[in-house]
Amino acid sequence: MKIDDHHSTARSHGVLLKIIVFMGFLAGLARALALGAEGAIPPEFAGKIMPAEMRDDSKAHVAGKDIYEGKVNPAVNCARCHGNDGKPTRLGKGAPDLSNPAEVGQHSDARWFWRISEKITGATMPSYKDKLTEEQRWQVLAYLRTLAPSGK
Ligand code: HEC
Repeated sequence: MKIDDHHSTARSHGVLLKIIVFMGFLAGLARALALGAEGAIPPEFAGKIMPAEMRDDSKAHVAGKDIYEGKVNPAVNCARCHGNDGKPTRLGKGAPDLSNPAEVGQHSDARWFWRISEKITGATMPSYKDKLTEEQRWQVLAYLRTLAPSGK
């Protein structure tokens, strides 16, 4: 009797372990999908376009640089993770090299706008839609495009 009890406990532990492993697998899958798919831009961001005059406006670039480097609002400091030059720091482990055109050229402005506006599941990067106005987010992106000029 005692031995049987022991066996059934061991079996239910085994099932529990399988469930935990499976949930870990699902979480990993969700993260891969959320971070990976270029097509996954939510509809409210998919059509976003950088104001035309901003891309080549040096004033917007300077404003964006100041935001990026934490000079406008110390609570918004992109450079501490992405580096002043766009290369990830230790804190920004896992971030793409934002100065590498081959790496970032394939990402649309709309995608980037979404990614700095909202935190997505599994991401390290915080959400900035409550800390930066739309205009400020575009300024940061206009500046980022000067680090790796080939995006759209
Ligand atoms: C705490 C560290 C951290 C901070 C602060 C941070 N990022 Fe990121 N960023 C990351 C990481 C890590 C990734 C890679 C995806 C992920 O895990 O979130 C990333 C991804 C990105 C991407 C690429 C998104 C894509 O999917 O192609 C852009 C663009 C970006 N960050 C811009 C910014 C801007 C602009 C700011 C400041 C307003 C900022 N980041 C602040 C860590 C950070």
